[in-house]
Amino acid sequence: MNNELQILFQIQEALKTSGYFDTSRVAKDILEYIQEKDLPLEPILERITLNEPWEYIKEKGEFRNINFKLNNHTLIPRIETELMVDIAKQELIKSPTPYTDIIDVGTGSGCIIISLTRELIEKSDDNKRYHATDISDEALNIAKENEKNILNQSVIKFTKTDLIGDISLTKDSFCMILANLPYIPTQQYLELDTSVKDFEPRTALDGGENGIQYYEKLLAQIQEKKIKGCAIFEIEPSTLELFKPLYPKVIKDQYGKDRFILIRFR
Ligand SMILES: C[S@@+](CC[C@H](N)C(=O)[O-])C[C@H]1O[C@@H](n2cnc3c(N)ncnc32)[C@H](O)[C@@H]1O
Repeated sequence: MNNELQILFQIQEALKTSGYFDTSRVAKDILEYIQEKDLPLEPILERITLNEPWEYIKEKGEFRNINFKLNNHTLIPRIETELMVDIAKQELIKSPTPYTDIIDVGTGSGCIIISLTRELIEKSDDNKRYHATDISDEALNIAKENEKNILNQSVIKFTKTDLIGDISLTKDSFCMILANLPYIPTQQYLELDTSVKDFEPRTALDGGENGIQYYEKLLAQIQEKKIKGCAIFEIEPSTLELFKPLYPKVIKDQYGKDRFILIRFR
């Protein structure tokens, strides 16, 4: 066996013990990373064996084929969330009233709003206002850095605030609110794998006892601000029942789970 194959084998073994499925792809990625940065393998294998997600070690995660900078203050973007960008785009095309403002609540790495903005500003007629909020300064700093690296321009207004508390809109705003807020009921959160619980921020995942405490508060803010438009929420499928009184449109994720709801405000 040549040296490179031996190293790949060693990495794959470490990945297997940490419960990785796609070991050959990740092993190749790790090998490329250490070769490119001229780093020793051992410290990385140690972190992998301690269940640290590879995305945090390399400080990068992919979302809609774009690389986003990450650190342990930002959630690792999930593949399910990619669909939210398509749902938003569909709604923007179909809506008889043009949307003036798009707000990404709980932006984290900025993956949702940056991907959407990137796809929309390619159209020269785009004149929407883009906003992103988070409660975490560290997450907002990463999101701003991602905007700079990915969009090469500053079009998104980042605000540190509780949900949409400090966001001010004009009287004629027709607003699309996108939110992937912490939505895992606390008991379910406590039973998650250590690779999630020990490394990803709890403030990005734990949605309180019923899993919808942030959405309840956001809906109250929407009502208070008399916002017109729509909201697209990513939810924990088991909490769907709690949203039923709002007559939402339910959209499934790629695994057939009730993952998104769309609510209209008139
Ligand atoms: C599930 S993560 C989503 C991150 C990113 N939007 C994504 O889809 O990968 C939830 C985000 O909401 C933020 N957050 C938690 N509580 C918040 C609050 N009260 N107001 C604003 N953001 C909040 C967290 O800091 C975290 O970045």
